[in-house]
Amino acid sequence: MPAIESNAYAKLNLTLDVLGRRPDGYHDMCMVMQTVSLCDHLLLEYGTGMPVQVRSNLEYLPTGGSNLAAAAALRLCEAIGRECGVSIAIQKGIPVCAGLAGGSADAAAVLRGLNQLLSLGLSWERLAEIGQRVGSDVPYCVLGGTALAEGRGETLTPLNSLPSCWVVLCKPNFSISTPELFGRLDSVHIRCRPDTAGVLAALDHGDLMGVAQRMYNVFEDVLPERRGAEVAEIKNTLIQQGALGASMSGTGPTVFGLFDQRSQAGAAFRILRESYRETYLAETIGQVL
Ligand code: C5P
Repeated sequence: MPAIESNAYAKLNLTLDVLGRRPDGYHDMCMVMQTVSLCDHLLLEYGTGMPVQVRSNLEYLPTGGSNLAAAAALRLCEAIGRECGVSIAIQKGIPVCAGLAGGSADAAAVLRGLNQLLSLGLSWERLAEIGQRVGSDVPYCVLGGTALAEGRGETLTPLNSLPSCWVVLCKPNFSISTPELFGRLDSVHIRCRPDTAGVLAALDHGDLMGVAQRMYNVFEDVLPERRGAEVAEIKNTLIQQGALGASMSGTGPTVFGLFDQRSQAGAAFRILRESYRETYLAETIGQVL
């Protein structure tokens, strides 16, 4: 049976701004996204003669169509008019419900992997279009690298790569519902927004410090009080250990810091891991196509 391995990389929000609520219930976003080396490993097999099947090393993940990886396989097979005898084995490395687009990254890895395995020759734009029906972050995850994501998240502009750096990611032990956080944001006046134009200019100049010091995520301001304090404390630790900047990713709760020195990133990783089991040391990576 033809098979292929495909990696699913986590994404970070270097910036996250929510511009307003749309008539379809979604929100218009403006986000600078970055891929990091923290990843899930997928093994895809085609021609099982069975409905799409997902298995993973985490027994609580859904195995049917509600798993974004399965949904992506179904959408792709629908689009090309083929039977969907796909089996997907996922070894999770990205924490779940963390603001790192782990599920969307798996969906994107399925689209890229099947495109290659079945020699479909579909462009990334076509894969992103199919992925958009699976989830708002899937189009970006198909492309990867440094990119501006607008609209629901599907309008992508590739950007100059963020200069390579080390990333420490730390997921506090709580999770927050994404629709709930969007709802909270709808009911408040957003006081502080990221300097997206400044980040884009810094990327143009290859200025890592300029990007790191302008990172911000509007969801940080609407976290429940105790959660917000924990996120702020992790950010402080990262900065004290030499991070050039720190922010929360997506709807959280993962907090990350960017470092230009491997030794400082390593020290921050060790300190945070004493309190937080889900702490990771990674590197930025470019487009994943
Ligand atoms: O598209 P996805 O299924 O990933 O979105 C999950 C939830 O996040 C949506 O149901 C919606 O509540 C919220 N969302 C939003 N606006 C976006 C993306 C997501 O309101 N642009």
